Amino acid sequence: MDQAKDIKTSVPGGSPRHVAIIMDGNGRWAQMRGKPRLIGHQAGARRVRAIVEACPTLGVEYLTIFAFSTENWKRTQTEVAGLMGLFRRYISKEMQNFMREGVRVRFIGDRLRLDEKLRELMDDVEKMTDQNTRVNLTIALNYGGRDEVARATKRLAQDVSAGRIDPETVDETTLAGFLDTCVLPDPDLVIRTSGEARISNFLLWQSAYSEYEFIDTLWPDFTPEIFADVVGRYGVRERRYGAVS
Ligand code: FPP
Repeated sequence: MDQAKDIKTSVPGGSPRHVAIIMDGNGRWAQMRGKPRLIGHQAGARRVRAIVEACPTLGVEYLTIFAFSTENWKRTQTEVAGLMGLFRRYISKEMQNFMREGVRVRFIGDRLRLDEKLRELMDDVEKMTDQNTRVNLTIALNYGGRDEVARATKRLAQDVSAGRIDPETVDETTLAGFLDTCVLPDPDLVIRTSGEARISNFLLWQSAYSEYEFIDTLWPDFTPEIFADVVGRYGVRERRYGAVS
C-alpha cells in the first residue's frame, strides 16, 4: 500500500483502461531460494494486493490476472492442491480488504471443475463486492481462452437450436456476449512477467488488439514501481487497430 502511494501518477498518452497480467515465475523465484514451488506461489499471492492497490493511482480501471489455467491441472497433485488451498485462503483473507479498497471482484473460467468450498467463496466475494467501483479485479481461475470460446459457442448453439437466435444475425458481438468476459472491456495492455514471450491461452479473443509487454522480472518481484513504468510506456505507444495512421 505504501509503495503504491509513492508511484508516478501521470501517464503521457493516457492510461490503459484494462490491464491483464500473466503472473509467471513463482516457481523459479522459489527454486532460486532453494524453497518448494508453493512458497513462490505464496509470495506471488502477496504481490497481488500491492498491484491491485496501485491501479487507481495509475488510472487503471480493470485488472485481470491469470491465476490458474485449464492446462495447470497437469502439474503435480501437490502443487495443484497447494494452489487451490492458496486461492481459498486468499479470498477469505482479502475479503475485508476488497471492501476497504473498493475492489469489485469477478472470476472468469470454468468453475465446474473447482471444489465446492472454493466455488462458494468465489460466489460470496462476487456478491459481497458487486457495489464496489474503484477497481475491477477479475481473477482467471481454471481459465483457458480456447475453452472459453468453446463454452461460449456451445451456449450460442443451444440458443440457435432453441430458436432464440437467428443464425443469420450471429456476428462478433453476438459471440462476445457469450464469453466469460462479456461485461468487461477488452484489455488494452497485456503484461507477462518472467521473461517468457507467450500468450499461453490467455484472453485469446479479447486481446486481438492489445499491446503486449514481456518483462524479465519474476512475478513475486514485480513491484508497483515496475508496474507504473510499464503502464507509462503504454502511454507513448500508438494504437492503430489495423488502420493506417
Ligand atoms: C505461474 O508461475 C504462476 C501460476 C501458475 C500461478 C499464479 C498464482 C499466483 C500468482 C498466486 C496466487 C494468485 C492469487 C490470485 C491468489 P510458475 O509456477 O509457472 O513459475 P515458473 O514458470 O517459474 O515455474
